[in-house]
Amino acid sequence: MNVYEAVESRRAVRGFTDDPVPVEVLERVLKAASWAPSGSNLQPWHVYVVTGAPLAQLKKVAVARVAAGDPWDEREFQLYPPELKVPYSERRSRFGKERYSALGIAREDWEARQRAAIANWDCFGAPAALFCFIDRGMGRPQWADLGMYLQTVMLLLRAEGLHSCPQMAWSQVRTSVEEALDPPAELMLFCGMSLGYEDPDVDFIRTLRAPLHETVTFVGDIDQPRGSAGRNTTSGACVNVQVSR
Ligand SMILES: Cc1cc2nc3c(=O)[nH]c(=O)nc-3n(C[C@H](O)[C@H](O)[C@H](O)COP(=O)(O)O)c2cc1C
Repeated sequence: MNVYEAVESRRAVRGFTDDPVPVEVLERVLKAASWAPSGSNLQPWHVYVVTGAPLAQLKKVAVARVAAGDPWDEREFQLYPPELKVPYSERRSRFGKERYSALGIAREDWEARQRAAIANWDCFGAPAALFCFIDRGMGRPQWADLGMYLQTVMLLLRAEGLHSCPQMAWSQVRTSVEEALDPPAELMLFCGMSLGYEDPDVDFIRTLRAPLHETVTFVGDIDQPRGSAGRNTTSGACVNVQVSR
């Protein structure tokens, strides 16, 4: 699998088989991912890989909390800005619509949406998860480093035939994660990530992406790339095709 194939075949998978992921595969992926770049090579990521009985117990505790309607833990960071502007608000709402329609859930069916959301804390059935922490003293650039690291992990998982789903949902029950993993006090949880083999029987909708000209500006005396639109063109087509089983 080349890098393009890894990038294009990665998606947030929300249905895994219970086939275990060999520990040597996880070690290989995480060893290679440590080559991800970071400002001044700080490598500010702290990763806990959880499988087997400890993961089963954490899932049980988290699912029970959410199912019982416990309030979320106090936030250490905002998942999204409270006032999300256009175009972000539109993209978010489109994602919500697509996700629930893939599951056959009406937007106003709060209970069904809640049931679907709870699958987050069961790791969508995955037999392995990682939890990524960062030192509270780190700033925005180091949070960006975490993103680069996590994407590197997800692409390497593709090379191993594995899939993943990054999940900020875990930050909503962060105290349960902390109780299970007992990280040093200075660390805070950014996100969890479910990983494993995709369950081919679970339907999905491939998310689309904004046309290139909405997110990329080419400046200078260069040809506009084929298949994309330049700054002054409004006809850029979506680059991805919607796919579902
Ligand atoms: C930092 C981060 C946190 C995310 N948190 C969740 C989550 O809690 N639950 C979930 O189902 N998906 C989560 N996602 C997946 C996104 O919804 C998904 O990446 C996005 O809709 C694009 O779809 P794709 O990854 O399938 O291409 C998260 C993604 C990122 C990068």
